[in-house]
Amino acid sequence: MNLKDSRSIMVSSISYGELEDKDFKELSDFIYDNYGINLYPNKKVLVKSRLQSRLNALGISTYSEYCDFVLNKDPNRKEAVEMINRLSTNKTDFFREDDHFHLLSHNFLKSYITSANKNQLLIWSAGCSSGEEPYTIAMVLQEEKQKIPAFDFKIYASDISTSVLQKASKAIYSTNYLHQIPIQYKIKYLLKNKDSTKNQFRIAPELRNKVEFFRYNLLNPKLPTNDKMDIIFCRNTLIYFDRSTQKLVVEKLLKGLVTGGYLFLGHSESLINMNFNLAHVAASVYKKL
Ligand SMILES: C[S@@+](CC[C@H](N)C(=O)[O-])C[C@H]1O[C@@H](n2cnc3c(N)ncnc32)[C@H](O)[C@@H]1O
Repeated sequence: MNLKDSRSIMVSSISYGELEDKDFKELSDFIYDNYGINLYPNKKVLVKSRLQSRLNALGISTYSEYCDFVLNKDPNRKEAVEMINRLSTNKTDFFREDDHFHLLSHNFLKSYITSANKNQLLIWSAGCSSGEEPYTIAMVLQEEKQKIPAFDFKIYASDISTSVLQKASKAIYSTNYLHQIPIQYKIKYLLKNKDSTKNQFRIAPELRNKVEFFRYNLLNPKLPTNDKMDIIFCRNTLIYFDRSTQKLVVEKLLKGLVTGGYLFLGHSESLINMNFNLAHVAASVYKKL
């Protein structure tokens, strides 16, 4: 047995006791108030197991002590960042809900460039997780850049979780996910690790240079930049918020979108009965009027 094995056995055999309902409520209220994410009571077991490694890392022996630390005693709020890294749900894929990328390149892009009379587009992937979404956008737009003279783009990509943002900036992914990427993009925009035992690929620098990652809380009433976006992707992120929070977030995103610009949501997300000045132009895609 090596050292790592024996350590993991030691960690799992330590008992940190129960996560009491009172502490769970305080934690979930904090997460709702600060990040908009609803942790329902049926998530208690999941929360407990996801936080166990933090108790171990901090040398804290009970969940109650941990809650007190993260909510009341952590002077610079660093632990809240670690906590949300563990409690956010970051599922994503390359070319997820792929009809959106087809619509972008085949239906919207050329007419938008013509009607807006501009060649340099700004795109924001809000809730970008580990980068698969913004790199998918970059692949699709880089292809269009070859076909449309003078067209260029920049992608802002933000998330609340610093751990997924770190992964996104490295742009290194397991070859297990290669099948998600159509062959024409694989050939041009992916670099295989020279060490074949590593089973990894990296996004090519010409795409990495197009994407700027940063931490941003969607509950922040202030937009992250004064630049207005031409296209905003905020997909599969609003589902973690309740209706009133969704409304506030979308209201703010729309302030940062140019008139005539596009908002892409996830396929299970809708703006029904929210009364925004938007045209519904395709499944989960809206145009600002
Ligand atoms: C399920 S992922 C969606 C990723 C990608 N947009 C997609 O559709 O594949 C949702 C992301 O939203 C992020 N998120 C949740 N609450 C957030 C908040 N308040 N501010 C910013 N990002 C948040 C999570 O960290 C997570 O990475």
